[in-house]
Amino acid sequence: MSALRLDPNAGLGPEWVAAADRSLKLADLFADLSRVMEDTTVLRRDEPLAKRTTLRVGGPADVFVEPSRDEELTAVLELAWVHSVPVFVLGRGSNLLVRDGGIRGLVLSLQHPHFSRIEVRGELIDVGAGAYLRHVANAARDAGLSGLEFLEGIPGSVGGALRMNAGAMGSWMFGVTETLRYITPRGERHEIPAAEAGARYRGCPLLVENLALGAVLRGQPAPRADILARMTTSNQKRWSSQPRQPSAGCTFKNPLPELPAGRLIDGLGLKGTRVGDAMVSDVHANFFVNLGSASARDVLALIELVRTRVREARGTELETEVEIVGED
Ligand code: EPU
Repeated sequence: MSALRLDPNAGLGPEWVAAADRSLKLADLFADLSRVMEDTTVLRRDEPLAKRTTLRVGGPADVFVEPSRDEELTAVLELAWVHSVPVFVLGRGSNLLVRDGGIRGLVLSLQHPHFSRIEVRGELIDVGAGAYLRHVANAARDAGLSGLEFLEGIPGSVGGALRMNAGAMGSWMFGVTETLRYITPRGERHEIPAAEAGARYRGCPLLVENLALGAVLRGQPAPRADILARMTTSNQKRWSSQPRQPSAGCTFKNPLPELPAGRLIDGLGLKGTRVGDAMVSDVHANFFVNLGSASARDVLALIELVRTRVREARGTELETEVEIVGED
């Protein structure tokens, strides 16, 4: 604690004080979390996040925690609140660009099997936030439920897909969601009809502050062979029109349904444009791929370059779809 008793003549500015204060809060939070977490819970300091994103760039999380029970999740949120440490919820990291300095505060993951359950009940499928969308699509197919085939092609988790109202092949997450379960930053749990969540194209305002815990999805009974055929078509379309290299999916939102960002960028001849190891894919121009050793800074510079070219040439302002988080 003595480090915080500052001598005004010591030349330590407000930034140093803020950093020291933050580091003390984090140490206290980590000590408290260590006391309440079970052995099965993942709890780490300075956890690298690049390996937890599909784009594979970005720095570490100050504290990373993956609770294994409801009570632990509540305790994590309460302790973060008590210590005034910001919480960021990480899904499967498939739509995420973490800056090179990493994420300050606590990064929370719901990937433990306890939060990833998939349970079919008649025409309804109860899914946890951590469940893989591909596994949900497979469960629906096995139960003879149609309407969820598009989830096969989205490399994310239920929680992230709800937060982003993720979509593909003309369908989107809230189009198949009946009920949404979420928890507030203070640890209060709610269950509401999905229509009340205010979801729109690639977004759900309610889940900006609150954390999705799961949902009840609805499918329609259909012959299994038809479902399988639709999944195969969707899979083939994806493999032929989207790149295989690491990426965060589509970089920009489509400015209008009839004006896809990929076509705009492609039309300006920007496929193959590079900043370091970040490149505009030569398969789909709205995907920016990591050729191997790209940094977040490279990807961000490429985003700005493309945005500027599109603005200057077409007068259209592209808005990022990828979530950009963390510090430089
Ligand atoms: N196009 C080009 N050049 C390109 C890419 C696309 O001319 O380099 C043209 C295509 O030929 C097509 C049109 O643009 O006529 C639209 O392309 P595509 O069918 O690939 O769809 P998209 O609008 O680019 C959307 C979603 C994707 C989703 C696909 C498939 C957005 C921002 N993107 O892409 O979602 O996978 O449909 O359903 O809404 C994501 O959200 O991360 C994502 C990848």
